[in-house]
Amino acid sequence: MLPERPDGGGSTQLDELVKGALVDALAGSDASPATLVAPLSAPLDAPLDAPLDAPLDPLARGPFDLLGVTERGGWNLLPALMFPGSAPVRGGASGAPRPGLSRDFPALDQQVHGRRLVWLDNAATTQKPREVIDAISRFYESDNSNVHRGAHELAARATDAYEGARATVQRFLGARSEEEIVFVRGTTEAINLVAQSWGRANVHARDEILVTHLEHHSNIVPWQLLCEETGAVLRVIPVDDAGDVRLDAYEAMLGPRVKLVALPQVSNAIGTLVPVAAMAQMAHRQGALVLVDGAQSVAHVPVDVTGLGADFFVFSGHKIYGPTGIGVLYGREEVLEQMPPWQGGGSMIEDVTFERTTYARPPARFEAGTPSLADAVGLGVALDYVERAGRPAIAAHEQRLMSSLVAGLSSVSGLSLVGAPAVRVGAVSFVMAGREPRAIGQYLNRKGIAVRAGHHCAQPVLRRFGHEATVRPSLGIYNDESDIALLVMALRELSSGRGR
Ligand code: ALA
Repeated sequence: MLPERPDGGGSTQLDELVKGALVDALAGSDASPATLVAPLSAPLDAPLDAPLDAPLDPLARGPFDLLGVTERGGWNLLPALMFPGSAPVRGGASGAPRPGLSRDFPALDQQVHGRRLVWLDNAATTQKPREVIDAISRFYESDNSNVHRGAHELAARATDAYEGARATVQRFLGARSEEEIVFVRGTTEAINLVAQSWGRANVHARDEILVTHLEHHSNIVPWQLLCEETGAVLRVIPVDDAGDVRLDAYEAMLGPRVKLVALPQVSNAIGTLVPVAAMAQMAHRQGALVLVDGAQSVAHVPVDVTGLGADFFVFSGHKIYGPTGIGVLYGREEVLEQMPPWQGGGSMIEDVTFERTTYARPPARFEAGTPSLADAVGLGVALDYVERAGRPAIAAHEQRLMSSLVAGLSSVSGLSLVGAPAVRVGAVSFVMAGREPRAIGQYLNRKGIAVRAGHHCAQPVLRRFGHEATVRPSLGIYNDESDIALLVMALRELSSGRGR
């Protein structure tokens, strides 16, 4: 069964519902998605848990649930985009970024090839605010010690800082307990951990794992390795020509053999927002678990893992203004509890003899060896930074920029956007007739503009649209209209033959 339409209108195809609603929303008005969203966004500095000034409207809950965005600050944003008027309005906000916010990021304050650096490669990695950089330095300058082991002052400080970061992640994701938060190196390691620990224990020959055609390689290859080992089968949920997941096909693929559905919340290559909450409900009805890959969503849309119904949620610190080398695996407590260790070593044990070892409870069971302590602390500071900026406001700001970006790119002659998903978050891919993506990337680099050009570690989805490589500008909290204007101007010059 597909999810019910929130107005009680009966079961319908969610993708049609979403697209139809967007068309309805825009019909007869000169509003763009951005202008629909803008009045509903929260002030940048509003605390996320501030009481909402209107009661929850049941009509607003439906689409919000369908889209997988929950009430921890974000519930009134995307539903407003989809179903304007159905969501309560929070007062007085413009959704504009705090003036001067980009000055918080030292790396942005430089010239490249004699031009101001325009960083539009946020889907590959984000720049770091000064306070994250300072927190990492401070850790090494004053608190550096291994954790959970020493009886001394610095061990206590380091342990407090590390566990404090875990508590920050727990709050940020809306997890029920800190025990559900495992620190890992990043999204890739998190998915490999689930495949090798949960997967080897629970997936057997002829079982099925479903992924979408949108995945980046991190959410494909670990499952292929598991399938090779176990005889299980990896199946691919198709996308339509717009780049939205075909929910009719997904529904037909769900059956008793499906053990896990591994979904991206947002496509890193073409920006599709995937209705993961609805898809999780459908998977759970069939008894399958759900892993949500939040690598490309967590910095852009409010996330609440409990509301999403994710059994696992993974993300990387470096894509949300934090350090490289640190990321998070959220696992529902009942699921993590049953999982065997993945790597063995210090910290993950309860008791060791040469005959037999017993293991610690999660999360320690999955954190063998010395963790990346300073980076975990830096990640906690990055998440606090994002919380203070205000996740609804970030999403509104980036949706406005996305509208400008798509409109601007569409105005460049010879340029074609790849896909046209109902809601595009963070990233957009394009090609230009007669020009190699890499050459376009190099040309933009000479203008001081950083974008990714290549396959974006997502070859299958690019090939679905007939490409081996594209150019991909991607947005972050510090981008503004001037960045979009400079990109579009440079591409127009290139297309007209004036660009060198
Ligand atoms: N997966 C990263 C990207 O999308 C590296 O660029």
